[in-house]
Amino acid sequence: MIELRKITKNFGNIQALDNFSFDVKKGELFGLLGPNGAGKSTTINLLSTFIAPDKGEIFLNGISHKKATLKMKMSIGVIPQEIALYDDLSALENLQFWGDIYQIPTKELKNRITEMLKMVGLFGRRKDKIKTFSGGMKRRINIAAGLLHNPNIILMDEPTVGVDPQSRNFIFEMIKGLHQIGKTIIYTTHYMEEAERLCQRIAIIDQGKLIAIGTKEELYKLLGDSETIILELSKNLDIEQISHFFGNFIISDLSENKIKIEGINLKNNLSEITTYLKRSFINIEKMDYIKPNLEKLFLKLTGKELRE
Ligand SMILES: Nc1ncnc2c1ncn2[C@@H]1O[C@H](COP(=O)(O)OP(=O)(O)O)[C@@H](O)[C@H]1O
Ligand SMILES: [Mg+2]
Repeated sequence: MIELRKITKNFGNIQALDNFSFDVKKGELFGLLGPNGAGKSTTINLLSTFIAPDKGEIFLNGISHKKATLKMKMSIGVIPQEIALYDDLSALENLQFWGDIYQIPTKELKNRITEMLKMVGLFGRRKDKIKTFSGGMKRRINIAAGLLHNPNIILMDEPTVGVDPQSRNFIFEMIKGLHQIGKTIIYTTHYMEEAERLCQRIAIIDQGKLIAIGTKEELYKLLGDSETIILELSKNLDIEQISHFFGNFIISDLSENKIKIEGINLKNNLSEITTYLKRSFINIEKMDYIKPNLEKLFLKLTGKELRE
């Protein structure tokens, strides 16, 4: 349904996107995950036809961006990263303003505004000025504004940045609801937990390049079979000595009495280690099995932490 084919986009000397391709199927809740400056907003702006690529082509339902019609543009709803609301107008007035931009007929607009205000849980606050709203509430009105014209494709650019946990959960539930009624959603974030929790398929982007794409499970497979366990011990351990005994594992010191063990099939071989510790009169105070995650994958593929 949405296809980016070999997109390159430069801003002066900065290459925001470099031969970047991915596709999103109809009804999919798709995540675009990457650190600040990766090219997420540029991708959203290209998809919403605010800007055009230098090279490559974007297809919506098989039709090239070069031939985009108003109807095609109207099938897209954008929730931009920057909040686009007037502080001195009420929530209702702001939505009326956006509805006029989308040229929604007056009567229909009235119903849509009510519907959207209820969806974002702020109908009761509709007459209050935006400047009295919290960051999370502004975000929710921003979402309502982007969905007024009932688009089939929804582009959300980091909608939870600067949002309190309650609004964040509310926004998540809303997105799930929109997904359930069949909307196609692209969700950008630099929080790997959000992408993992919410999205069916995820594209990882860094410095304008696609690093990896797939379902969570497919992405975890790229990590290989290596597992990680963190042990907190009753006393300090001579790492060199234990490494000597368990050559198949990588063992490192994390802090005093805390060690990290990495290796293949670790869970099944753990008894060797626990037996050794017991013999050395060292107790395991705490044991954490670190599940594979996208943070680790990002580190493996780029050599950098996802979070600066
Ligand atoms: N309008 C612009 N003018 C100049 N540089 C830009 C512009 N928009 C984005 N960039 C640059 O392009 C790169 C990608 O930016 P962006 O798409 O906003 O990343 P993200 O949304 O992932 O943080 C960054 O280096 C950014 O500074
Ligand atoms: Mg951005």
